[in-house]
Formats: sequence, structure tokens, C-alpha cells
Amino acid sequence: MASTLAANGSAPAYNGAAYPITDHSFDVIVIGAGGAGLRATVGCSKAGLRTACISKVFPTRSHTVAAQGGVAASLANMGPDQWQWHMYDTVKGSDWLGDQDAIEYLCRNAPAAVYELEHWGVPFSRTEDGRIYQRPFGGMTTDFGKGPPAQRTCAAADRTGHAMLHTLYGQALRYNTEFFIEYFAIDLIMKDGRCCGVVCLKLDDGTIHRFRAQLVMLATGGYGRAYFSATSAHTCTGDGNAMVLRAGLPLQDMEFVQFHPTGIYGAGCLITEGARGEGGYLTNSAGERFMERYAPSVKDLAPRDMVSRAMTVEIREGRGVGKNKDHIYLHLDHLDPKILHERLPGISESAQIFAGVDLTRQPIPVLPTVHYNMGGIPTNYHGEVVIKQKRDPDVVVPGLMAIGEAACVSVHGANRLGSNSLIDLVVFGRAAGLRAAELATPGAKQPELPADSADLALSRLDHFRNAKGDIPTAELRLRMQKVMQSDCAVYRTGATLAEGSKRILDVWAAKEHIGVTDRSLIWNSDLVETLEFDNLIVQAVVTMAGAANRTESRGAHAREDYPARDDANWMKHTLASIDPAARKVTIDYRPVHSQTMTNEIQSIPPKPRVY
Ligand code: FUM
Repeated sequence: MASTLAANGSAPAYNGAAYPITDHSFDVIVIGAGGAGLRATVGCSKAGLRTACISKVFPTRSHTVAAQGGVAASLANMGPDQWQWHMYDTVKGSDWLGDQDAIEYLCRNAPAAVYELEHWGVPFSRTEDGRIYQRPFGGMTTDFGKGPPAQRTCAAADRTGHAMLHTLYGQALRYNTEFFIEYFAIDLIMKDGRCCGVVCLKLDDGTIHRFRAQLVMLATGGYGRAYFSATSAHTCTGDGNAMVLRAGLPLQDMEFVQFHPTGIYGAGCLITEGARGEGGYLTNSAGERFMERYAPSVKDLAPRDMVSRAMTVEIREGRGVGKNKDHIYLHLDHLDPKILHERLPGISESAQIFAGVDLTRQPIPVLPTVHYNMGGIPTNYHGEVVIKQKRDPDVVVPGLMAIGEAACVSVHGANRLGSNSLIDLVVFGRAAGLRAAELATPGAKQPELPADSADLALSRLDHFRNAKGDIPTAELRLRMQKVMQSDCAVYRTGATLAEGSKRILDVWAAKEHIGVTDRSLIWNSDLVETLEFDNLIVQAVVTMAGAANRTESRGAHAREDYPARDDANWMKHTLASIDPAARKVTIDYRPVHSQTMTNEIQSIPPKPRVY
């Protein structure tokens, strides 16, 4: 549909280049078309808000498509379960860094969110009597951790994200959402502390588009590609997070980076935790099921941070497998091939293609691989971006919301439990849609954007388009990825983090010497990858800074020099912001929300996290 504002033809000039702008006006703009973005889009459109969904890739190519094992909700289809047990597990899984009001909201609303997906057409796997099939996942237990593992993860074989994303896109098409596909968001438009829109590059024709809205929702995913080996797609560059940093706002808890225990060795592709949920197990070079030593009660179904640390210790202590003793085996060869075919068809194929393994007969070589960012844009459980929560009610940034992996609500705290991300997408995607319906008025008149509102974005675009330095983007990106992989890994020490901080700041400084070879704006992958690198590097920098500052071990942040969790000093969220001109990071903290959302349930006090 045509924009409601005429193309205004304004052409700010940078280095002599002109960039005519096409203007658009909407009630709500959602940036990102993964599970969270699409669910929010549906909610906003259904509420009568004129909604634009902007995505740099075709919606069904968003990274949600790669989620495999399932979506957590206490449906109790396979045995007793209740949302309060799910909440307990999530708080414990988060190592008490999660906000308990948000976790209560997540777990209470999870069953309804899954039934909504079912009614919308997600082809879930089924039990004999036709209910949604649920499998065990790491850290999911019954009876407040005292009972056996819970079967809580609702699965569509091992292609749950694929099934959800396609269904949600279908739903979004039912309403009047206007999709802007293959538009790359360059920067937010902020005025007097309010977010009023975003500036985008349309990738196929190189035109510039300025979107104005009452509300902008960032659903731009994580930044896994700051690391060398990640299960994340190449598009996972955390563009929304970086736009927030450049807008002078902080990101929260960025030092908490999840390593998934079972990335395929060498390739990094995901082998779902559902494989262990279906009975798979890990062994070292002695053929020992070593997880029995690290998590005696739940063994291979311990949370991801623990399994990844155990694997790392096994390898370090010389018990890795393979020629270089540098990985671990995942066994599924003892399982009935019929089960593998029905419940794990996707990973059967991935193991064959990426490891040359027939998993009915051979173990899969695996290694902990970066998978998820617990940190992101701080929000409350309505999806509103908050600046600092030193006082209640939260101080919100008007006009700006964030959901999905881009957001730090924070329900995952220091460590996310497997299958809690897909439920996070739909529960908080829905919550953001509901909030938008309260905050925005369909068709409300919006103030004109200032004449210079695109300047920040266009000067950045122009800077890189004309970058004539001698370092190719790919080279600098590789340097950044290697630094993060080696110095901000499963285990960290003061020394590795000090070295890493220096090296990552060097990479940030070297950005001034970047060279982009293609000056075109049309399908210019060198330019777009440079903008993405520019987004990644600031996230890498604040990740390293947050990790260096936090002198304790909690969840995925494991300091060898500070091995214990320190609740007295560190049960608080990190807030990291940057000054791009001075290339400086500022770290601040805010308290964890330990209180619950309602008085119906008591908060869960911290205790040692053993399984
Ligand atoms: O292992 C998996 O299937 C991944 C699921 C998740 O990250 O939630």
C-alpha cells in the first residue's frame, strides 16, 4: 500500500551523495518477522492498529525457522504438571537472575499460548489419544524440583520453530498487516527521548524509507554471529540491540551468552536437546556417560550451562573424542529407528549432511556452540523498553518496545532453559500486542518528524558506503568472532577477559580502516554486511565489558577465578551503554525483580543450584 505521506524528496547530502527519502506513517511498526515479531504483528493488526512489519529477510526465513525441539508449556499431557513447577524451574534455571514477575507471566500464560498455536494450525506431534506430544528438556522437573523430569516441551517432531513460523506468517496475512520485506533497518528516529520511527534501506532497489509510528517494536533477534561458531543464522546480527545502543540506551545482561551443548563439531549446526529428551546421551573418550558425575539426578538433561561446562572439562582433562580429543559423542544409535524417523527426522538429516553420520549406527560428534543471548534490550513484561528500574513503576522509553531474543524481559536470567525461547516469543509477542492496543490509537495524528530525523542513519550509511580503508569487512568480522570465541567462552577468567577487552576494543577501533568495495546501494552485500558488522561489534564490546566486570559465576557466566555465585553483591542486572565517538563503555546495574506478579504465588528464594 502506498505511504500516507507523499515521498517528500528531501535529499540530505553526505560526501556529495543524495539520498531521496520515501516517507511512511503507521500506528505501529514491528521490526523483525520471527516468532515474536509475527505474533505481535497479529495482535496489533487485530486491534485495528495500522501495522507495518519490516524484515531484512522473507518472514519464513527468520531464524525462528531453525528452532527444533519444542515450546515449553505445562499442558500435563504426558504426566502431572503445573505452571508453578514451570516457574520454579525457570527461576532456578536462570540462576536467580530472572525477574520473577516476568517469569510468572510467562509460565501462567504458556498453556493458552500453545493452544492458540494449535488452533491456528501448528501441526504438533500427537500422543496416541490425539493430544499434543510433549518431551522432556533440560532443567524441566516436577514438584518444584523434587519429582522426576517433566515432559513439558510441546513438539512438532524436531521442526517446531519451522511449524510455528509458517503458521504465524499465515495468521499475519489474515489481517491487514503491511509487510516491508527485505528492508534493512539502519537506525531509530528518537526525539526528546521518544522513539518515533526508523530509517530503512530497501535492499532490492537501494531506496531509503523513513517510517513514522506511535510505537516501534524491535523483534530483531539475537547476535550469535558475534562468535565464530554459532547455531545462529548469518542474519543473527542483533540489529535492534545495536540501534538501541546508538540511541544512547543501555543493553542488559549481555555477558550471559548461552552455549548449546550439541552443535555439530566443525559445522556448528544444531542437534536439538530433544535428542537427549528422547533418550540420547553423551560420552567421553572412555565411553563413559560422564553427565552422571556432574548432575546425578537429571544427568544428560541438566540445563545447558551445566552440560556445556561438563563437556568443556572433559575435553580439557584429556577425555575428548576424535583424533585431536577435542569434542564429545552424542549417542542415539541405541534408540528405535522408528522413533528417530518420527520424532527426530531433521537432525537425522543434519547429522548425515554435516557430520557424515548415520545416527542409527554411529554417535554424532558434538561441541558446545553459541546458541542464544539471554541479554538484550531491557523491558517490562508488557514489552515496553525500560531505562532503569531502580524505582517502581518502571521508567519506560516512550514509543519503544522490544520482544523475543532482542529483549531482556528478563525471564531467562543467567541461563535459559531449552524450549523456553519459543514460548517467550509467543507469550511476550502477544503481551506486546495487547499493550500496543492500550498505548496507541488507530489512525491518531502524529507530529511531523523533524527535517533532520534521518541524518543519523544516512550519515552512517554514507560513511560505510564510501569507506575506502584497507581492511575488508570480512577480515575484521573474523577477528571479532575469534576474540569472542576464545576470550568470552564457556569458561572465563580475569586474564582472558582483560585480554579479550583489549583485543575487542582494537577491533572496534580498526573499524575506521574498513574498506567497502562496492559503492552501489542495490543488493550490495558488502555494504549490508558492513552495517551488520558495525552492529555486531558494539554488542561484542558490551558483552566483554559486562563479563569482565562481573566477578562471580552465575548461569552461563562461569568465572574460573570467581567460581561461586555471589548473591550479596551480584544478584543484579548489568546495564551497558556506549559512547561510540569516544569508543567507551559505561556499566551500571539495577536490581533483579524478585517479587512475583500477583500475590497468588510467593517468590522463590535463592538457593544452591544443584540437579
Ligand atoms: O535444542 C533445541 O531444540 C533448541 C531449543 C531451544 O533453544 O529452545
